[in-house]
Amino acid sequence: MPNPIEDLKKRKDGLDVLADIYRYAREGYESIDPDDFNLFKWYGLYEQKPKGGGHFMLRIKVHGGHYTSAQLREVGLLANQYARGFGDITTRQAFQLHWLRIEDMPDIFSRLERVGLTTVGACGDIMRNVTNCPVAGCDRHEIFDAQPDVLRVSDHFLGNREYSNLPRKYKVSISACAVNCTFPQINCVAFVGVPHGPEGVAEEGYNIYIGGGLSTAPHFAKPVNIFATRDQVLDYAVAITEIYRDHGGRDRRTRARLKFLMDDWGPEKFREEIAARVPFEPYPASGHPLRDAHHDHLGIHPQKQEGKCYIGVTVKIGRITGDQMLGAADIAERYGSGRLANTISQNFIVFDIPEDRVEAAASELRVLGFDIGETTVKSDCVVCTGKEFCNLAVTETKGLMSEVISYLEQNVTWDRRIRVHMTGCPNNCGQQVISDIGLQGASTKIEGREVECYDFHVGGGLGEDASFVRKIARRIAAEDVKLGVANIVRAYQQTRSDGESFRDWTRRYSDEELAQMIGVVDVKVKYGAQAGS
Ligand code: HEM
Ligand code: SF4
Repeated sequence: MPNPIEDLKKRKDGLDVLADIYRYAREGYESIDPDDFNLFKWYGLYEQKPKGGGHFMLRIKVHGGHYTSAQLREVGLLANQYARGFGDITTRQAFQLHWLRIEDMPDIFSRLERVGLTTVGACGDIMRNVTNCPVAGCDRHEIFDAQPDVLRVSDHFLGNREYSNLPRKYKVSISACAVNCTFPQINCVAFVGVPHGPEGVAEEGYNIYIGGGLSTAPHFAKPVNIFATRDQVLDYAVAITEIYRDHGGRDRRTRARLKFLMDDWGPEKFREEIAARVPFEPYPASGHPLRDAHHDHLGIHPQKQEGKCYIGVTVKIGRITGDQMLGAADIAERYGSGRLANTISQNFIVFDIPEDRVEAAASELRVLGFDIGETTVKSDCVVCTGKEFCNLAVTETKGLMSEVISYLEQNVTWDRRIRVHMTGCPNNCGQQVISDIGLQGASTKIEGREVECYDFHVGGGLGEDASFVRKIARRIAAEDVKLGVANIVRAYQQTRSDGESFRDWTRRYSDEELAQMIGVVDVKVKYGAQAGS
């Protein structure tokens, strides 16, 4: 079956579009060859809604999520100068700026490069931002600091033409977090840190999982029964990427992710193919279980470095103003070492603050408009871009999630982590399929008018017991979403047993019983009932 994107990539490698971006910057938006819009993604540049409107979104990579105050300051200055004063933190620990024009790109690229940031491979059919635990190197409970391995792998693949034409986007996580906070199971490839290998191998390293991914056909990555020592990580990353490049599906974009090759081959064949490509005999996996990420390192915590603390800062709906970035960069320098990191849940961490100054630093961060707390509504709510900027969106999301958060803050006591995720279409950028309460945008016609609504899901989660959400109600009117979430959270709080998680609690009930608990109904029923009353 013809696949126009594959034809395009054969004619021109995504990495070859850079000179054209500079040319278009001189000659203007109208001069852009329509094919090149697709290839711009290889440099993190994505046309913003509406298509043809002349504005772009730019995704800026942050290897493993870790960055410096100088880098944050530059992103903040760029946000203020070119991006209408704000940016987003993404679910892969990157930054995104909106409202950019093609004319702005040369200055933006050169200023990012000057501070050591890159957009190469931030989007497109290539290895994306490699994710890592944001408190790697500082967390008292971590298995080990995986960031050197993240950097080794990121450096090898960055702008590498051997791997710049993969069948589809390709997502890798390398982390040795004690709670698996990077959601390894939804990555194409996950290196999951463990304290030692199988019997007889005392070295620390990683168990390898392959074939995860969300979107409209969600898959959890499967273990391939390989333990990689830290020295072997790059060899494995190269072998797996080559397998994907050479054997991944290229006929249909919808079947091209690595997860479909895993469906076809299964873990045993994958293991054999990998073994044939690495210059050593693979060890079998160690027996360590995967954990569910029950926290995101937010709040104030002592570091493994004596006398130092980190602060996990909550960013409402992942949106941060340029001025907040400048302020946070300043605080990170004055109180800490200038090191920061983005989390998977669209929040950030400031490191290396002396214990006796941590309260003062936290107060200054609060003055900037951030919340600080381990379990807050804001930190548990994750939301995709939605209609504001995304061409694929069915619903507006960030504004609605903001309302949901305010309502929950005023009406519900949030005493335990409950992940509430919202996406504006089935592509699942907001990862609703793995959340406790998942809200997926839809729309329906009522008396000839399009009405935005949300399908209501519950019961997703990761770890050994990973599960995708189940749908309990359809087409809840956007304005009723906050009530539905509040009602089901209250029902949980009233009937849970000691220590019972939200996900375990949902398992006690049928879909119908849970639908009753949300206490709001299908928008068609709602308006039908009102019209008849
Ligand atoms: C212009 C706006 C965007 C468009 C058009 C877009 C498009 C898509 C599409 C088509 C998919 C499904 C691809 C596939 O797996 O087959 C997807 C998945 C995803 N996107 Fe986006 N996206 C946009 C913005 C974002 C933003 C802002 C974020 C982060 C905050 C994001 C993070 C993700 C994630 C985490 C997934 C799930 C990938 C997976 O693991 O399967 N996207 N996106
Ligand atoms: S989930 Fe859909 S609406 Fe949201 S950012 Fe992704 S593609 Fe756009």
